[in-house]
Amino acid sequence: MNPSPLAGKHIVLGICGGIAAYKSVSLLRLLIKAGAEVQVVITPAGKQFITPVTLSSLSQKPVVSEFFTANTGEWHSHVDLGLWADCMVIAPATASTIGKMAHGVADNMLVTTYLSAKSHVFVAPAMDLDMMAHPSTTANIELLRSYGNTIIEPETGYLASGLTGKGRMEEPENIVKVLEGYFARSLTLAGKRVLVTAGPTYEKIDPVRFIGNYSSGKMGYALAEECAARGAEVTLVSGPVSVTTKDPRVKVVKVESAREMLAECEKAFPASDISIMCAAVADYAPAAVADRKIKREHSEVPVIELVKNPDIAATLGARKKPGQILAGFALETDNEASNAVEKLERKNLDLIVLNSMRDKGAGFGTDTNKITIIDREGSHPYPLKSKTEVAADIVDSIQSRL
Ligand code: CTP
Repeated sequence: MNPSPLAGKHIVLGICGGIAAYKSVSLLRLLIKAGAEVQVVITPAGKQFITPVTLSSLSQKPVVSEFFTANTGEWHSHVDLGLWADCMVIAPATASTIGKMAHGVADNMLVTTYLSAKSHVFVAPAMDLDMMAHPSTTANIELLRSYGNTIIEPETGYLASGLTGKGRMEEPENIVKVLEGYFARSLTLAGKRVLVTAGPTYEKIDPVRFIGNYSSGKMGYALAEECAARGAEVTLVSGPVSVTTKDPRVKVVKVESAREMLAECEKAFPASDISIMCAAVADYAPAAVADRKIKREHSEVPVIELVKNPDIAATLGARKKPGQILAGFALETDNEASNAVEKLERKNLDLIVLNSMRDKGAGFGTDTNKITIIDREGSHPYPLKSKTEVAADIVDSIQSRL
């Protein structure tokens, strides 16, 4: 039998004070059985539900809960733990801890460890249905998602309160599956080069004005980070955006216009195994850029002559060599599927990711996306997910073609 992808991994298991803490014992056993080394960090309330003796016996490590050990004065370093961990999983995550994590309220060891964690964080909420549905909880969960954390959604079912609804912590077996999937994917792109374009392009009219669009760059940045997390060497050619990446493995090349973006893509493309064209490139640029600000008083209503911008995806598509994979995006308002298929052919793409402006939660500026991946075999729709999760789906689909 192959060893579990969790074998030898360092996992910080955070446990909060909720009834579901009893399931954390099974989760801990399964992680240990899979070969992981687990350090339990429990909140003071967590100890009301499950004893540190049970947890330390199973993990073979003293359970960390306080900043200091009372009798020895030994300081527990959350920074060291944050560096040690290959991942952190908080199960169960209560509404209060989720709130503290979302807002940086570092008043216990679990939250300080979370804030120091350099690795990926998984959060498995568990609470009563009304707490789960409260706008405060949903907003805090969205904040955690926006920090790049993976939310392991709770199930709908019988709750400790006797009510039935959404709030049951995901079963330990399934949490282990999520973690195994994460580690199984890591380094699967080691040695591969990836080129991603992101954001809008700005086409100058005069020194203070431009033609642009609403693209936030979030999807392209999430794709670049996903590929880097899998071990690829990533070049991200980005138009002007406010989003940034904290991942030092992503090489960001900032550009402004479509022509600049094309020039940078032409440099990186020949050595790239995978290229993902996620930028919302302006189709037209002013034929001439005024060297001074166009003034209102001195001119008639100006007429700006436009010229066609180069099609970056099509230019690369025409130069594509066997073995190179080129993916594009299509954001459509109508005739979605047929427009996407037409672009797939015209630009010689291997796959195209379709977003419809008619889908709530898809498109510019949102943290979520709803996509359909289309290739020459057919189309595969996905449900609404966070842009980080969508990035993982897209990269999975691309990797299956390598
Ligand atoms: N694209 C590109 N260069 C352009 C225009 C688009 O690289 N000048 C890429 C986008 O990054 C995306 C795909 O082509 O991956 C489709 O972009 P889209 O704007 O939908 O296509 P267009 O060809 O511009 O078609 P239209 O605007 O008519 O829908």
